[in-house]
Amino acid sequence: MQKLVVTGGKPLRGELSVQGSKNSALPIMAASLMCGGECRLHRCPKLTDIYAASRILNCVGCRCTFSGNSAAVDSRSIDRTEIPEELMREMRSSIIFMGAMLGTAGECTVSVPGGCELGPRPIDMHLAALKRMGVDISELSGRIVCRIPSGRAHGAKISLAFPSVGATENIILCAVTADGETVINNAAREPEICDLCGFLRACGARITGDGESRIVVKGKAKLHGCEYTIMPDRIAAATYLSMTAAAGGEIILTNACVPETEPFLSVLEQTGCSIYTGENKIYLHSGVRLRAVRERIRTMPHPGFPTDAQAVLMAALAAADGTSIFEENIFDCRYRHTDALIKMGADIQVLGKVAIVKGVRRLHGANVEATDLRGGAAMAVAALAAEGTTQITKISHIDRGYEKIEEAVSALGGDIRRA
Ligand code: UD1
Repeated sequence: MQKLVVTGGKPLRGELSVQGSKNSALPIMAASLMCGGECRLHRCPKLTDIYAASRILNCVGCRCTFSGNSAAVDSRSIDRTEIPEELMREMRSSIIFMGAMLGTAGECTVSVPGGCELGPRPIDMHLAALKRMGVDISELSGRIVCRIPSGRAHGAKISLAFPSVGATENIILCAVTADGETVINNAAREPEICDLCGFLRACGARITGDGESRIVVKGKAKLHGCEYTIMPDRIAAATYLSMTAAAGGEIILTNACVPETEPFLSVLEQTGCSIYTGENKIYLHSGVRLRAVRERIRTMPHPGFPTDAQAVLMAALAAADGTSIFEENIFDCRYRHTDALIKMGADIQVLGKVAIVKGVRRLHGANVEATDLRGGAAMAVAALAAEGTTQITKISHIDRGYEKIEEAVSALGGDIRRA
């Protein structure tokens, strides 16, 4: 089993080009199976989750191939509508294939995506919305069998109880080829939704309102292939900025999506780091010690503070001057990284959805285990700032979301290697 060995205390300096967004690339890969032609996707990050998505595409009869950071998906030969359980379980966001399969084949059999990582992640909103669009859904020993009797879904007016990212994506995917108009109220406004819609429009879909709470999709019978470039990953950007903030130094992120990263930047700025932004660039300089963030850091749907950046910022604030308070409002179990940070000397108290982080003078190295993707990245952030050496095991979690993390950090002068 591979691990990351990190020796802290070295400032990070240099320029880093931000990888393509995982959370954009996954639904876009699912959407590419609806095009009945060839799609070329550029800036696809090389991640285990992306390869899991390509296995699903190949399994249903598409041909998905990679050349560097470009993926080609040919969906002309889809011949299967059932996604085996083991492929569904490889990756939680496999559920997004449900909307795409329904939109293209009018039926699919999938299973509940596996495991509990961040607390219960139900799909009740996905299923309720698809039913309203004419999909018959039955559950049989963990398998979800979906069928549209007429072969084509119909438009519907859907109001989500919560702006779920995945549910919004599944509804959009099913709606683009549905008969009539679909309106999604209280839709998720995450930038990755806009990227998915941008891709679908490039394939001929008619969607307006993405990025706002009310999305309107006018269905059309057929889409076509296209060439598309995936947006930069705002959470990877937040991670490398947190690393530099914690370890000290200065970094220029190129190929960054600046407005989309602002909800994170406006909080990070309160730690005393100097941050300047230009077109597609973020510059950060971090001096000796960070200051605690005085206002409560509440994770919220976009454009609030992103839940995916909570752990990496917490790691940076673990050795800041003063006390910072986090409030996690999106997921139930999103403080699983705190035990590892405590093992590294952090003073963190978790009380339900609140975490109180009292900045300590210095963190120290320890042997820790990645608990989940962003939690594992938080351990790398802490390790780069800590005295001594940290070994992080179970890094398959980290590899789900960061493209060659050790190469990116080493190039900035960090002492990190994969062993
Ligand atoms: C996506 C992101 C994930 C991010 C999250 C919130 C991808 C691949 N993943 O996850 O990185 O942390 O958005 O920004 O894009 N919920 C229900 N019922 C449903 C659906 C969701 O109760 O049918 C709940 C979830 O349990 C959770 C909350 O809604 O508490 C938010 O989930 P959602 O926005 O759907 O997140 P994901 O799409 O799973």
